[in-house]
Parts: sequence; C-alpha cells; structure tokens
Amino acid sequence: MSELHNLFLPCPRGLEPALAAEMQALKSPTLRTGKEVPSGVPARGTLEDVMRLNLHSRIASRVLLRLGHAPVEQADDVYRLALKMPWERWFAPDQTLRVDVTADHSPLESLHFAALRAKDGVCDRFRMRGMARPDVDREQPDVRVHLHLGATEALLYLDTSGEPLFKRGWRTAHGEAPLKENLAAGLLALSGWTPQAVLFDPLCGAGTLVVEAAQMACNLAPGLGRGFGFERLRGFGVQAWQDIRRAALAARRAAQAPIFAADIDPRMVELTRANAQRAGVEAVVQVKQGDVMDAVPPVQLQPGQAGHLVTNPPYAERIEAKGREAEEFLPRLGDVLKQRFTGWNAALLLADLQADRALRLKPARRHVVYNGPIECRLFTFQLVAGRPPRKAAAGAGAGD
Ligand SMILES: C[S@@+](CC[C@H](N)C(=O)[O-])C[C@H]1O[C@@H](n2cnc3c(N)ncnc32)[C@H](O)[C@@H]1O
Repeated sequence: MSELHNLFLPCPRGLEPALAAEMQALKSPTLRTGKEVPSGVPARGTLEDVMRLNLHSRIASRVLLRLGHAPVEQADDVYRLALKMPWERWFAPDQTLRVDVTADHSPLESLHFAALRAKDGVCDRFRMRGMARPDVDREQPDVRVHLHLGATEALLYLDTSGEPLFKRGWRTAHGEAPLKENLAAGLLALSGWTPQAVLFDPLCGAGTLVVEAAQMACNLAPGLGRGFGFERLRGFGVQAWQDIRRAALAARRAAQAPIFAADIDPRMVELTRANAQRAGVEAVVQVKQGDVMDAVPPVQLQPGQAGHLVTNPPYAERIEAKGREAEEFLPRLGDVLKQRFTGWNAALLLADLQADRALRLKPARRHVVYNGPIECRLFTFQLVAGRPPRKAAAGAGAGD
C-alpha cells in the first residue's frame, strides 16, 4: 500500500486551482499534488490516497490511476501499450470491462477504434497468460479503463471511481438546468464562502449549491452515500477502506452558520428539501418559496459574520423566450442586490460573459468556469454600502 502511483484527477475547466487546494487540504503525508493542467490536476500517491481522494474530493470528476504511456501514431500503438500493462495485477478475467476514451489533438482518426484496440490489448494480455478474455459491459462494468490520446502519446489509466464522482447518490431527481455537484462545490470555493458564513441561494432549483454547502458545513464527506470502482479492484485493502470511511463518518460536526434557499417554483422547493434530506442535511438547509425580486436577507448578520449569496440564475437563452421580462431580469436582480443586500458578498454564475453590465454592478472578480461545454463567468461582487450604482449605459465598458 505504500507504493506511489501516478494519478490524474479531471475536473470541470476553471476549477483546477480549487481542486488542487482541496487535495492539499487532505494533508496526506504521502500525497504529492502536482501543477494543475487544463481540466485536471496530476498527483502522486498511495492506494490509500486514492481511496481518500475518491471519498473526500468534491471537485474532482474522477480519480484515475496511470498505468503507462507510450508514443502513438496509429491505433495499433494503443494495442501494444495495452498489451504491456499488468492488468492481471488489478482485476480477474471473469470481471467485466469498459474502455472510455478522451482526446486532445489526437492524430488518430477514430477514437472509437482506438478504444477498441485498447480493449483488445487488455483481453489478449489475459488470453496470452492462459486465462479467459474479460467480457465487455458498457452499462455496469466491474472495471473501467480510461484511454487518453494526446497529440503524440497515449495514456492508459484505471478509473478508480467507477461512476463519476459528481454522482453522490443523493440527487435522484432534478429541475431545469441543474449544476453538477462538483461544479457547485467548485463555485462555492471560488465564491469565498466558508462554513462560518451565512449562505443564501435565492434561485435554488434542485438545491445543488445549498446541499453541497450544507455537507461541507457538517464535514460530511461527499462519497459516503455511494460505492467506488476501486472496491472491485485488487490491491485496495478492505480494512484500510473501512478505516478511512469510519474516520470520515466520525468527523461529522454541527453546522456553524445557517444556509437558506428559495425558488419561485414550489416543485423546486420540495425537490431541494427532498435532496437535503437524502444528503443528510435537512436540519441545516431552510427552504422557502419566493420570487428573487422580493428577496431580502434571510437573517441579520452577526457582527463579524459574512453573508454570501451564491446562485446560478436561469441563463439568458432560457429566459429570453419570455421576451421583455427576460431583458429586465438581470437589471432588476442587480437592483435587488444593491438595495437590499448591502454588506453581503454575491457570486453569480452566468453564461452571458458580460452579464455584469446588465446587472449594473462592478465585479470584484470574474472567474472563467465551464458548465459542461458552456463557457460561463462566475461574477463575484462585494455589495458595499454607499457605493453609487453603475450607470446603465449601452456599450459601457466592463469596468475593470
Ligand atoms: C438554473 S436554475 C438553478 C439550478 C440550480 N442551481 C440547481 O443546480 O438545480 C434557475 C432556477 O431559478 C428559478 N427561478 C426563475 N425565476 C425565478 C424568480 N424570479 N425567483 C426565484 N426563482 C426563480 C427557476 O425555477 C429555477 O429553478
């Protein structure tokens, strides 16, 4: 278990520094967090680190364990690489398999064919050792192999997570345009919210932001309600895994500050309550039905206490369908923030990259974040008393 492995943790683009900080906060003496690259963070660590990362990371999409890499010009190079990897060390031939592939400037024409050749290499490796060929199961494989094709090389990984890590197990239904749980966790990190501060999401949808925050506030590990791919791989000690889970369960604490949510749609209010309950944090999240245009701070801040409004309003293209009302949405929201949330911090995820103009607020920061393929900005604002609102001038500069 003390052997060190090369790891790669993919994540939504824009969240790499937040993921690296989260990995360092685990304070594992054996985990070395590398320099982040677009869409992920490399690391070196033990199999215990792999288990801990799977259980505790809120921002990673997966924990991949690198088995090998080789230059690649054609799909047969992928086959030869797969044939060389010691798969029998990690799983048995009667386990089912699936190969996923990602690519970045790959010269190979068919990613599907490259994945097929990787699968052939894995299966032939077993066969050449006198064992059966593992079967493929695309739906519920025991083992997931991940092939990444770069411009000049192929990398083969074991996917130790199984289902992607944003699937925590508590969200069985969702509303319109839900955030993935790991994106929501990353937005909370970028917003500057910490569990000591009050949190309010007045456009909560299925409650992804507030449920993630409530679990953080209670120090509840995100993976406690789900299983992981490594549980079906060889080499991951069962006792060590039980100890890691037990320590995570024992670390639960009471939340230090309240968390509030609201939505205009009563079905979303119910959904947020149900999700909070499934996530074990229903006592922490207070949900109400209401129009954000009528919103006021849900609680008076104590001296020295910070208040954070973190939300993702409906994207322009969705509300545009409703015409004039849509055009007025962001300016009116900006007015609500300026007039009623003085002293609060606000963080808004929007797909309109210049939404700060429509809000008529000067952002403290604009974080570039991707919601799936959609380039967005997380605008953060400090709603300071006495600052004159920005003029709503057509074509006004972005302000900083
Ligand atoms: C993009 S969704 C939020 C998704 C949420 N972050 C999640 O992960 O599920 C926007 C939400 O804003 C709500 N909404 C739209 N107009 C509203 C208003 N005027 N006041 C409050 N909620 C509103 C919608 O019902 C919808 O649930």
